[in-house]
Amino acid sequence: MKPLLEIEKLRVSFEGERPVNVLSGVSFSIQKGETLALVGESGCGKSVIAHAVMRLLPSEARVKGSVRFKGTELLELDEKRMSALRGNELAIIFQNPSHALNPVYSIGRQLAEPLRVHQKQGKPDPSQKVLKALKQVGFSRPEHYMKYYPSWCSGGMNQRFLIATSTILGPELLIADEPSKGLDPDRIKEVERELRAHPGAGKTALLLISHDLGFVRRLADKIAVMYSGEIVELAEAADFFEQPLHPYSLGLLGSLPENGFVPIPGSAPALSDPPSGCRFHPRCPYGEKRCLQEHPRLKDTKGRFVRCFLCP
Ligand SMILES: Nc1ncnc2c1ncn2[C@@H]1O[C@H](COP(=O)(O)OP(=O)(O)O)[C@@H](O)[C@H]1O
Ligand code: SF4
Ligand SMILES: [Mg+2]
Repeated sequence: MKPLLEIEKLRVSFEGERPVNVLSGVSFSIQKGETLALVGESGCGKSVIAHAVMRLLPSEARVKGSVRFKGTELLELDEKRMSALRGNELAIIFQNPSHALNPVYSIGRQLAEPLRVHQKQGKPDPSQKVLKALKQVGFSRPEHYMKYYPSWCSGGMNQRFLIATSTILGPELLIADEPSKGLDPDRIKEVERELRAHPGAGKTALLLISHDLGFVRRLADKIAVMYSGEIVELAEAADFFEQPLHPYSLGLLGSLPENGFVPIPGSAPALSDPPSGCRFHPRCPYGEKRCLQEHPRLKDTKGRFVRCFLCP
């Protein structure tokens, strides 16, 4: 089956006094209806991937490689066609819900906005669709919440409003950038539920970005682990959680509370000055001499892809 989204050798650098190569050739694909989780510590390039797919990177970004959505090269699409896709077939939930929602408009008005922008004129009053969307993300009295403003609501409620706004048109691909960040465990469970039950759920593919492996474990079909601007492991979620292969993946799983909270020593390198050889070598407990000099390729190992010399 042809993938819905195909990212190939995506490179992004930012120009400036000291140019920074943020993504060094990232490749992965997502099938229709599939959930792929992109995980890794803060600063490894996850949000840059999301913004590159949506074509929302700032002008100082230099982007190379390919991002195909249903076979169309997004990196070459003119802005008019890209805007027609955005919010309609391709949607994103940004990292910070209180910034993404407009404080001066009611929730009902903000939910109706994608319908107003993307749907043909002459369609019936959008309020029925808005009420239905609010119900789907768990608001039992939607007519009441339509009149609310973002500042009246908790972070968890705003995150659910945002999920409803982003999915009201039933996009084919939804990107959720850190939807659980900063929320308490109960709110995280709600967001998790809404990501399964939003208006497009079932047919919508999800690119789920998170630093939290515990959260993505319950939602993802596939896991892509990023470290310092590159993918180091790409696997089916079930295989990954049963037996992670890359030393960084082992470290990430070991740092989960249920696995004893053992942190990975050291910190991620600055992207402006990545280490020689394997980028993980300064923190890797299994490193050997060649890891300091040679850069490992992402290799097909037992049906998954791993970037480590230890994997055959
Ligand atoms: N506009 C920009 N100019 C320069 N560097 C940027 C810009 N946007 C992001 N970066 C850098 O790109 C790297 C990856 O950022 P990001 O994708 O936001 O990380 P993540 O989402 O994984 O936490 C960071 O080191 C960040 O400083
Ligand atoms: S290549 Fe070497 S340093 Fe890198 S993860 Fe594998 S063992 Fe560790
Ligand atoms: Mg981010």
